[in-house]
Amino acid sequence: FKYTIVDKDTCIACGACGLSAPDVFTYDEEGLAHVLLDDNQGIAELAEDLLDDVFDAYEGCPSASIHISETPFDGNPEKA
Ligand code: F3S
Repeated sequence: FKYTIVDKDTCIACGACGLSAPDVFTYDEEGLAHVLLDDNQGIAELAEDLLDDVFDAYEGCPSASIHISETPFDGNPEKA
């Protein structure tokens, strides 16, 4: 995969993703996760060295709110 996005409609602000991948996920003022690379649009191609961390976050999210894909999300977590 090359792209990631957080579905803020399902994120429960658990905070695990930012621990797994601190260079990729941060939190908004409500504590919901946010991809900092592209303002959570899912359009920034992830660098190779970030993929392990992102996959850990993807697997660790208790609400399955982290989506990953080979193609850009263009802001829509349901796109891919
Ligand atoms: Fe939200 Fe899942 Fe991260 S619930 S804070 S996207 S680990």
